[in-house]
Amino acid sequence: MTTYAFIGAGKMCEAILKALLQKGYIDPFDVILSDINSGRLEEMSEKYKVRVVTSNRTAVQEGDVIVLAVKPQNHPEVLTEIKDLVDSNKVVISIAMGKSTESIESYLADDAQVIRVMPNTPALVAASISSISYGKKVSMEAKELAKGLFSQLGEVVEVEEKMQDEVGTISSCGPAYFYLMVESLADAGVRIGLDRALATKIATETMIGSGLMIRETGLHPAQLRDMVTSPGGTTIAALEALEDGGFRASIYKAIQAALKRAREM
Ligand SMILES: NC(=O)c1ccc[n+]([C@@H]2O[C@H](COP(=O)([O-])OP(=O)(O)OC[C@H]3O[C@@H](n4cnc5c(N)ncnc54)[C@H](OP(=O)(O)O)[C@@H]3O)[C@@H](O)[C@H]2O)c1
Repeated sequence: MTTYAFIGAGKMCEAILKALLQKGYIDPFDVILSDINSGRLEEMSEKYKVRVVTSNRTAVQEGDVIVLAVKPQNHPEVLTEIKDLVDSNKVVISIAMGKSTESIESYLADDAQVIRVMPNTPALVAASISSISYGKKVSMEAKELAKGLFSQLGEVVEVEEKMQDEVGTISSCGPAYFYLMVESLADAGVRIGLDRALATKIATETMIGSGLMIRETGLHPAQLRDMVTSPGGTTIAALEALEDGGFRASIYKAIQAALKRAREM
């Protein structure tokens, strides 16, 4: 039996836990959560029937797999607190933006098994994309365990450790860009007279359908865009206005801003 200890019972912990429990991949009895916020722990215990503790040390003592789900800025205090309890039989999985496996290993014993995963919040609907990379001393068994765990939330891709922050600027932050796009489309629809609920539904389904088209056809997004862009038509007029407004350049800038921020963490 494997016990999963989550340190930090916030939004990402809940997204991961909910997907794993819903799929029956893990049992509530095999989970222990720790957090400094006892109100949050009570809420999680009531909702998911898992054990909760306010001591991170107790969670680590009981856990075989330790999921570090605190904010990056809380890493130093948490790792300092638990470092003597992490032996080579445990697997530490960090989901923090901007924290390399090397930085986590620097707190722990030389033989600690450290894995880094960047999931995203669509994990809540089993549609996450998680990038995974490994520290120096991770066994094959631990790699398979982590991949198995996160594949319950959606897709998993192995990436080079040094590219994790770059990937995270698209995957972890990406849902926010998408929501802004849908919101803008809906607002634009309202501006030209559409009912808000209808505009939001049309915008959402169009984005989801277009995403599926990229995945299912395997075509380059530009090829798919060409397919809906007839000469002298409405789409090309809209694309011209988007390019004129710096759409593509804004996205380049947004990703670079996210990466800069990740590096500061
Ligand atoms: N949100 C995303 O889309 C996303 C995607 C991928 C990865 N991540 C990563 O996932 C991690 C968690 O993010 P989140 O959005 O779930 O954050 P969150 O909702 O703020 O959850 C973090 C939890 O940890 C608690 N905490 C703070 N200090 C602690 C300590 N010393 N010991 C135990 N618990 C402590 C916080 O309590 P208080 O609220 O009382 O401080 C909070 O309940 C971050 O490292 C983030 O980079 C997030």
